[in-house]
Amino acid sequence: MEDFFAMAATQTTVREIALQQPTSIRVFERFGIDYCCGGRKPLEQACEERAIDPQTLLDALAEAVVAGGEDGRDWAKAPLGEICNHIVDTHHAYIRAELPRLRFLAQKVVARHGETHPELKEIQQHVEAVGEELLQHMQKEEVMLFPYITSLERSQENGARPVGCFGSIHNPIRVMMAEHDSAGSAVAQMRVLSGDFNPPEGACPTYRGFYQALLEFEMDLHQHVHLENNILFPNAIQMEDGEAATL
Ligand SMILES: [Fe+2]
Ligand SMILES: [Fe+2]
Repeated sequence: MEDFFAMAATQTTVREIALQQPTSIRVFERFGIDYCCGGRKPLEQACEERAIDPQTLLDALAEAVVAGGEDGRDWAKAPLGEICNHIVDTHHAYIRAELPRLRFLAQKVVARHGETHPELKEIQQHVEAVGEELLQHMQKEEVMLFPYITSLERSQENGARPVGCFGSIHNPIRVMMAEHDSAGSAVAQMRVLSGDFNPPEGACPTYRGFYQALLEFEMDLHQHVHLENNILFPNAIQMEDGEAATL
């Protein structure tokens, strides 16, 4: 394990570390490092961009390994149908439940503090836009893409050809990943506008609650997109390509 982290300091991308070592995810969250959409960069570069000492991060990564994972599940080895169900039950359900609360908090803080803190209005606009985008995005995954992936996996056992209305699975996945980039960039902009979700000195409880809610929303989105971009989608593509090769 020591070798792994020594190598990680120089060459390994954040995304690869997140895949090989699931306990690293909460460490990346703690340090504000994006391991999903923005994860295709070496660890050193990610540290540089966030002004973090690489050794501090490496120590935290090594400590997390000793402490163990949160749900104990290594999704990289799970059946794809189970990953789809987990995403819908956990992350899609969270977004649907959390969005109305985020909107309410945004309205409240803008009404009370928008004049002295104009960035709040901009953050509110991002909340509205990303919320709308994500609701439509999740619908597409649940109605079209995830059922197709589940039937693709089942076809490995029963030989029945899965039916998709989009040609190759590469097509919807390309669209989903572009939408992930858009949501990821909206959340990254909210992080910048809010000074890493740090409320100003003396901020009221609603203000603090709003920034805390945004921080948790970002964390959930990163975990969600990591599961799709880095595990579910590449495995589904591999499965479809393997199936095509046997025809
Ligand atoms: Fe999703
Ligand atoms: Fe998605």
